[in-house]
Amino acid sequence: MKRDILSYDSVEIDSEGLFIRLIDQTKLPAEFSQLTVKEEETLTDAIKELKVRGAPALGITATSGLCVILKNLDIKTISSYICEFDRLADTIVSIRPTAVNIRNGLVRLKCKLNEAVAKYGDDVYQVHNSVFMEAIAIKNEDIISNIKIAEFGITLLKPGSTILTICNAGHFAVSRYGTALAPVYLANERGMDIKVIACETRPLLQGARLTSYELMMSGIDVTLICDSMAGHILSKGLADALITGCDRIAANGDTANKIGTLSLSIAANYYGIPHYVAGPSSTIDSECSSGNLIKVEERDSYEITDKYFKSSIAPEGVKTYNPAFDITPSELISAIITEKGIFRYPYNFNNDND
Ligand code: MRU
Repeated sequence: MKRDILSYDSVEIDSEGLFIRLIDQTKLPAEFSQLTVKEEETLTDAIKELKVRGAPALGITATSGLCVILKNLDIKTISSYICEFDRLADTIVSIRPTAVNIRNGLVRLKCKLNEAVAKYGDDVYQVHNSVFMEAIAIKNEDIISNIKIAEFGITLLKPGSTILTICNAGHFAVSRYGTALAPVYLANERGMDIKVIACETRPLLQGARLTSYELMMSGIDVTLICDSMAGHILSKGLADALITGCDRIAANGDTANKIGTLSLSIAANYYGIPHYVAGPSSTIDSECSSGNLIKVEERDSYEITDKYFKSSIAPEGVKTYNPAFDITPSELISAIITEKGIFRYPYNFNNDND
C-alpha cells in the first residue's frame, strides 16, 4: 500500500503537552504504527531501542518527551521541578551519547528553564509553559532547517544524477523531509529526476528498512544494495555523489555518522566522487574541536549475531565489536550543507559560506 509518508511527522507533539507520538521505526517496513509516549520508561525505551532514531528526531524527542513527562508528574514546587528536569536530562543524554542534538536540545531547554525561573519564580505552571514552548520551537526550527538544507543541497545536484547514501537521513530521522534526503525530495518535486542507491546499513538495516521504504512510498527511484557493494558502485561511476547525514560535527568539520560512512567517504574520494554531509547546525558541537574527541556509541553484540536472522549467524560466544558510528575526517568531506549555507574545507562554521 502506498502511503504519503511526508504527511506523518516522525515526532508529533500534543498541543497540550500531555504526550508525544512517535512512528515506531523498528516495525517498519512491515507495519506502520505509532507509539504514544507519556512517561519516562516508554521514552527511554523508544530511544534505546531505536523506535525513534536519527540525530534531529532524537533531539526533538528528548526535549518534547522530557516536557511531557514533567507535565504528567504534576510537580508542585519549583525545586522539585528543577531536580526532576536535571535527572531526566542526564538519563536521556546517556542513552545515545553520539547524537549531539540530544545534548544541544536539552542544554537549550535548561537555559530556557533558568530564564523562566528568573522571570516567574515559584510558578511551576508558567515555568513549564516556557520550557514546553522552547521544545516546540526546536521542532519547528528543524522543519525550517530541512527546507533550507534542501534548497542549498539541490544547487550541488545535476538533473538525472544518482546519489549514494547510507543509513536513514530522511523523513523518519528528523521533524520532516530529512537532511541528506531533503534535497532529493525537493529536486524530484522540481522534475530533476534524481535517483538514490541506498546502502542496507548493517547491523540495524536503517537503509533497507527505512530509506528504501520512505523513498519508494514517495515515488522516488531507489535501489537497495548491501554495504559491501558500495565500492563497486563507486568504481563503476554508478553514483554521482555520496550524501550522508551526521550525528555530530566537530568544530573542525570532522563528522560522526552511521558506521560505514567513513569507508564510503574514502572510496568516494579515491574515485573523485564528492561526499556531501547534510545536517542542521543543531548537529554542530562547537565545544568539540576534533573528531577524536567524539564519543562513539557501542551497542550490543546481539545486533550483529542474531537480530534480523532466524537463528544466530555466528558461533555462540564469538567476540564482537559493534560501534554504531564512525568519524569521517573533514578533509574527505567536499561540503557540509546546513540551513545556513554550504561550507567547505577548511571548515569554520562561524565564517560566511558560499
Ligand atoms: O543509529 P541511528 O539510526 O540513530 O543513526 C542515524 C544516522 O547515522 C543518521 O545518518 C544521522 O543521525 C543523521 S539523521 C538526519
